[in-house]
Amino acid sequence: MAQRIGILTSGGDCPGLNAAIRAVGKAAQEVYGMQVIGFINGFRGLVEDRTMDLTPRLLSGILTSGGTILGTSRDKPHAMLVDGKVRDMTKEIIKTYQRHKLDALVCIGGGGTQKNALHLKQAGLNVVTLPKTIDNDLALTDRSFGYDTAIGIATEALDRLHSTATSHSRVIVVEVMGHRAGWLALEAGTAGGADVILIPEIPYEVERVAKAIRKRTKEGKHFSIVVVAEGAMSKSDAAKVARLVRLKDHARNKEEKQNASERLRKFHEAHVSHTIELTKQLEKLTGQESRLTILGHLQRGGTPSALDRVFATWLGTQCVETLVKRQYGVMLALEGNQVKTVRLENVAGQKKLVPRNHPLVLAARRVGTHFGD
Ligand code: F6P
Repeated sequence: MAQRIGILTSGGDCPGLNAAIRAVGKAAQEVYGMQVIGFINGFRGLVEDRTMDLTPRLLSGILTSGGTILGTSRDKPHAMLVDGKVRDMTKEIIKTYQRHKLDALVCIGGGGTQKNALHLKQAGLNVVTLPKTIDNDLALTDRSFGYDTAIGIATEALDRLHSTATSHSRVIVVEVMGHRAGWLALEAGTAGGADVILIPEIPYEVERVAKAIRKRTKEGKHFSIVVVAEGAMSKSDAAKVARLVRLKDHARNKEEKQNASERLRKFHEAHVSHTIELTKQLEKLTGQESRLTILGHLQRGGTPSALDRVFATWLGTQCVETLVKRQYGVMLALEGNQVKTVRLENVAGQKKLVPRNHPLVLAARRVGTHFGD
């Protein structure tokens, strides 16, 4: 009996999602005669039973398009806002899964999606996931699709910003995405010849960043490009966060835990604008006109790179092989030059951060890039 599978995209959109949907859909239907149902807007589509028939016609011509034809959301099965209240909708999801007589559910997403998929696996559903994120911070996979395109977009932006930086003799601070992990800042910064790269894994001192810029000026280099991951932090802010995390982890009661969590939340909320402050400080400390560019969601939009299209196609078709073997509860992952499966238990809740002595950090340092430490 051919399998019936459901597919959804969840979390932030990124280039390559449509390539992955197309790969799963085509291989499942055309090679194995499976039936494929798309769920709209992530896990919410499962709750509301909103579906899309992934006909060959619909799957045609989407390889190169950005976003996701299925729509996406950051909704969690076990904590979903419904009628103004946060509710556990796991039972409703199971009902939809059973109503459609699904054999398995393919969830395409980043860190949050892996956790949600594990939750559904523990609730008894057969799930297989694909790794997407421009942050490249998913554990146990060398790469996630979307990342390569984002590097390309950020690198092109840096190339263009160099013109203004040199013409006006300015310091240009460029904020790229990456809350917890600095992969995108590291790789785009290296590709774009950034003079300073600031990432969450290596807390910085603003005076050291300014000193590196002043040194360049003394050497006759009258401009500087500073690439900052959105989650990068000064040493004092990183110490504050570490203290709050400790308070939360060692709380003696519920109230203390809530208190620490709330202070952490407020800190992160305020930290969102830290690059504005950093740019002002650098202008003051270097005496050089400084400007900030926030690349934001530009990095997630538009057509995927050739590499992301190929990678998403590889993962999507390999996912179908996994479904054929009825191997569930896993994420497809790149290890070296092979696509393998890893258990969701080992991926969910984990983050792949940049090690301080990663070869790319060392390479950047060796060509004179400063990390503000
Ligand atoms: O996809 C991950 C990510 O790109 C993060 O780097 C970023 O902080 C986040 O998404 C922002 O997403 P949104 O604004 O869509 O919630």
